[in-house]
Amino acid sequence: MSRIIYGGDYNPEQWLDHPEVLKKDIKMMKKAGMNEATVGVFSWAKLEPSEGDYQFDWLHYVIDNLWENGISVILATPSGARPRWLAKKYPEVLRIDKFGIKQRFGKRHNHCLTSKAYRRKVFEIDKKLAEEFGNHPAVKYWHISNELSGECFCDKCQEAFRSYLREKYGSIDELNKSWWTTFWSHTYSSFDEIEPPFEIGENELAGLILDWKRFLTYETGEFIETEKRALIAGGAVQPVTINLMGDFDGLDYGRLHEHVDIVSWDSYPEWGKGIEASNVAGFMHDQMRSYKNKPFLLMESCPSSTNWQDVSHLKRPGLLTCASIEAIGHGADSVQYFQIRQSRGSCEKFHGALIDHTGRDDTRVYKEASKLGKILASLDEIAGTDTDAKVAIIYDMQNRWALDVTQGPRNIGIGYPEYVHRLYASLVRYGIDVDVIDQEHDFSNYKLVFAPLLYSVRSDTVKRLKEFTNAGGTIVMTHLSAYVDECDLVHLGETPYELTEVLGLRRTEVDGLYDDQFNEVVISDCAKNLFTKPSYRLEKICELVETLPGSKLQILGSYGKEFYKGYPVITSNVYGEGKAYYLAADCEDDLLLDLAGMLLRDSGLMNQELSVDMLPVGLNLQTRQNDEYRYFFFENYTEEEIPAPVNRQNVKDVIVGSKDMTIKPYDVLIAKIIR
Ligand code: GLA
Ligand code: ZN
Repeated sequence: MSRIIYGGDYNPEQWLDHPEVLKKDIKMMKKAGMNEATVGVFSWAKLEPSEGDYQFDWLHYVIDNLWENGISVILATPSGARPRWLAKKYPEVLRIDKFGIKQRFGKRHNHCLTSKAYRRKVFEIDKKLAEEFGNHPAVKYWHISNELSGECFCDKCQEAFRSYLREKYGSIDELNKSWWTTFWSHTYSSFDEIEPPFEIGENELAGLILDWKRFLTYETGEFIETEKRALIAGGAVQPVTINLMGDFDGLDYGRLHEHVDIVSWDSYPEWGKGIEASNVAGFMHDQMRSYKNKPFLLMESCPSSTNWQDVSHLKRPGLLTCASIEAIGHGADSVQYFQIRQSRGSCEKFHGALIDHTGRDDTRVYKEASKLGKILASLDEIAGTDTDAKVAIIYDMQNRWALDVTQGPRNIGIGYPEYVHRLYASLVRYGIDVDVIDQEHDFSNYKLVFAPLLYSVRSDTVKRLKEFTNAGGTIVMTHLSAYVDECDLVHLGETPYELTEVLGLRRTEVDGLYDDQFNEVVISDCAKNLFTKPSYRLEKICELVETLPGSKLQILGSYGKEFYKGYPVITSNVYGEGKAYYLAADCEDDLLLDLAGMLLRDSGLMNQELSVDMLPVGLNLQTRQNDEYRYFFFENYTEEEIPAPVNRQNVKDVIVGSKDMTIKPYDVLIAKIIR
């Protein structure tokens, strides 16, 4: 039977000389309702204290005990941090940084992923682990390494980069053209001349920087494959995962997830900054689910305060339940913590944990975690259920890199992730589910696709956006759309590239505004009933666009100020069976909220089960479904009791929460609705 996983990172290797602690941990995990422990994440020095001296007895003891107590295991490979002996004997595993400086032993997540010695040592221990534990009934998943990240500029990584480029471009001429290297006379005469973007070297060539980032994702993928091969060689058959870091911009997770069977991630919103944190986390949950359009695991989260953040802010009472149920609502099939027992020393000793230094089971955090354990135990039928979003936002990491690299139109901040988060927050106010996808994702399941600031667009994406619109979909594009290709080469001719006909307009210029400068969009008479305000504030970037000759562009709003007063800002165009909207400037949140409502209504996508159009601020909703039922997950992040705004007639059952369907402050409601 499927069930929601409840557990987290557990580091018994730190307590091997305290057998009483290990016993107590299991008791306390059980009592809190946990059914899982992630072990082995940083255990290498205990598993192989010196080269070739494998010590698995302690891990057998731990895993057997967990299993006898009904706790299954996600077993990690230990490659996230290496033992001292390994760096000493094979110094090539230590990275060279972007200044060309060789790193010394220390920290974690900092090995050369290309190093043959590192891959060999990792392969050996992974294979042994798989031989020892691959058949253990407790082991349900393999967790490869930990939070893979970073870059290395050593000779071996440079050589691997050059091979990657040779494979990609075939000839140096092709590469020179794609990177536009005649600029400043930076032409390469052979692949051997290429260096990665050292801080003290070639670090303004956009094509080089973008391909270097793609290479890092590729090389990290190769490293994952090495670990997978080792596990298989040792006889392991369980699915594998890697723990992603949400919006981490060092790798393209859109490609990296292809190497694993199930997506998992580590969520650490800054709750001290207010409940907006839940929207940011919600966005990332949706992104994680959308990679494979499948449930994912919440591999790590913090049961109380997170000590590496600026301020270790306690999770207020009830917040743990709200945040955890919200993850489930977005498609997580687990709630897992970092960590189960707080370590006694070193830099994470004050990080929140199920079991703190007192070891007591009557702490506030332990009691809340136990309450959550009971809730999760009642959610068996939800594990594995889907999300059926008809709306998607394209948020593309390679596009983000391109926007970061480019100079102009606003070097003091274009705000791509921020814009996307604001747009997302507007959409979810209407109580609908949203997929967060990249430009390679299939669009055909959606009715409404937002492609904000899609500056770096691939020809294939343009083609698919056209097809999607032509077939009856609605696309919404914004300022900074479709300027360059994947190497930051500007598309020649009219822009938005190849989309002028779809959008019914063409761009002529783009104006950057300082932080204290604003323009406004004045809503056209014909559109007054679609918006709640007669005008809205515009900021940061204002594009000058004009109607494409011959097009029947509808102008819903125009600039109110400046020499481009009267130029279109919000436009709508019919293309084939569908519609294409353009929003030519960055704007205040109210406009995003009104636009979101207008587009959802127009596309027939309002949530029909709700008794209101829009949720109150602080009441969040997600839905999941199977063939028979839809499950509604509400979290109330406000100080007020709120009646769940759901049409009651279809409610089959309240699984969690009060039967009269009011939701107390910082509490949740999970209702089951007949489809
Ligand atoms: C990351 C790591 C963990 C731990 C936590 C602390 O997510 O994967 O090992 O350091 O952060 O929040
Ligand atoms: Zn290297």
